[in-house]
Amino acid sequence: MAPQISPSILSADFAHLADDVNRVADAADWVHVDVMDNHFVPNLTIGLPVVEALLRTSPIPLDCHLMIEDPDRWAPRFAEVGAGSVTIHAEAAKAPIRTLRAIRSAGARASLGINPATAIEPYADLFGEIDMLLLMTVEPGFGGQKFLDVVLPKVRRARALIKDRDLPVWLQVDGGVSAETIERCAEAGADVFVAGSAVYGADDPAEAARRLRAQAEK
Ligand code: DX5
Ligand code: ZN
Repeated sequence: MAPQISPSILSADFAHLADDVNRVADAADWVHVDVMDNHFVPNLTIGLPVVEALLRTSPIPLDCHLMIEDPDRWAPRFAEVGAGSVTIHAEAAKAPIRTLRAIRSAGARASLGINPATAIEPYADLFGEIDMLLLMTVEPGFGGQKFLDVVLPKVRRARALIKDRDLPVWLQVDGGVSAETIERCAEAGADVFVAGSAVYGADDPAEAARRLRAQAEK
């Protein structure tokens, strides 16, 4: 699949979210929304009401990344209000198969998130239940952290597992993705790239997103 870019609004201006979404809309495929609850991660961001408001204005679909303790309860709600993709974390979900199915039946793409120190192999049998696998390339919770090279072998293994079974599963990397690291991610087999500070920290976020896409296409 051609690479896709999903700028993370965690690094945008929270007082002007709609404007900041519009700034990248022509250059990006998705807008990545980091939902944090101060339990699964030590940070507190935005929730369902803000996602509903953004859905009314965003020209492109929302890619909602739930870093919350109780995704089984919340993930179907994000799908029901119209999120295009909903990621639940493997470390948090108590009934991931039921929740992933509920996301899909509400019309969204179902995605499973995996932290840097969590192995993918125990979840391989679930790959038929998902549309995307999100591999964290930093410890979740904050934007602007340094990319963890130690995750790259896992990106390669995930791509091989998906390919072996000929599954239509997208492979997303999230955390520290930038002009310096995106080529390594693409080479390892990622095809959906989340970038927060590398996009919204740039003077021209749309141009930064276009450059990242061009690098991922190399
Ligand atoms: C971190 C979030 C990321 C974050 C990425 O927990 O899941 O989506 O916004 O930010 P950067 O691209 O700055 O590492
Ligand atoms: Zn994220």
